[in-house]
Amino acid sequence: MIVAKNIHKKFDQLHVLKGVDLEVKKGEIVAIVGASGAGKTTLLQILGTLEKPSKEFASSLLIDGDSILSLNDKELSIFRNKKLGFIFQFHQLLPEFTALENVCIPAFIAGKEKKEAEEAAHYLLNYLGLSHRSNHKPGELSGGEQQRVAVARALINQPAVIFADEPSGNLDTQSAENLHELFFKLRDEFGQTFVIVTHNQTLANMADRKLVMKDGLFATSEL
Ligand SMILES: Nc1ncnc2c1ncn2[C@@H]1O[C@H](COP(=O)(O)OP(=O)(O)O)[C@@H](O)[C@H]1O
Ligand SMILES: [Mg+2]
Repeated sequence: MIVAKNIHKKFDQLHVLKGVDLEVKKGEIVAIVGASGAGKTTLLQILGTLEKPSKEFASSLLIDGDSILSLNDKELSIFRNKKLGFIFQFHQLLPEFTALENVCIPAFIAGKEKKEAEEAAHYLLNYLGLSHRSNHKPGELSGGEQQRVAVARALINQPAVIFADEPSGNLDTQSAENLHELFFKLRDEFGQTFVIVTHNQTLANMADRKLVMKDGLFATSEL
């Protein structure tokens, strides 16, 4: 699903990623852990096509069979909309829109009809136990509910991969546990692939693979 080779990132003199290699198979849940500043978010942003690796190195990045580094910005934004889902630490829902509308937005961007998008959004919100909250705005929802709306938004275009950066970093223990269980349920029922950056050791240990990032590379002891 993902084949990344020799990914480097420099911010001026700061060499943050130093030749990262990563392969992720379909239906796999990979957790990335490591100290703050190790480069986890930078890597996730590059894998998620939101950032580009530094050009002076011979890097390659295949996602769902597409070679990403040769796409232009317009092609990238289409690819991102159709193939990738994102979940962030702070849900990043649009405050003036309802849960249902927030979930529909990526489907509208993908050119879906209103009716079709809303049906899919209703299905997902119901699946995530949120049908009674669909017409509420994010500010009226709990942190756990907001994060589940963000999961529905990430899922609506049936992405090949979901990237999550500290998805439970802002949740209480119970809501975090529920969110983690949801990831595994989505993997088991739909074969959903996840790459998750987390400080949560329980989640990292439940994952199919736990990768430890240290000074811009994966440490060899993978566990
Ligand atoms: N846009 C940027 N410009 C300059 N430095 C950055 C930028 N983004 C991240 N960094 C630096 O890169 C390093 C890795 O950051 P990050 O990937 O966010 O680490 P992590 O997510 O593991 O905490 C840090 O030293 C950070 O300050
Ligand atoms: Mg980070």
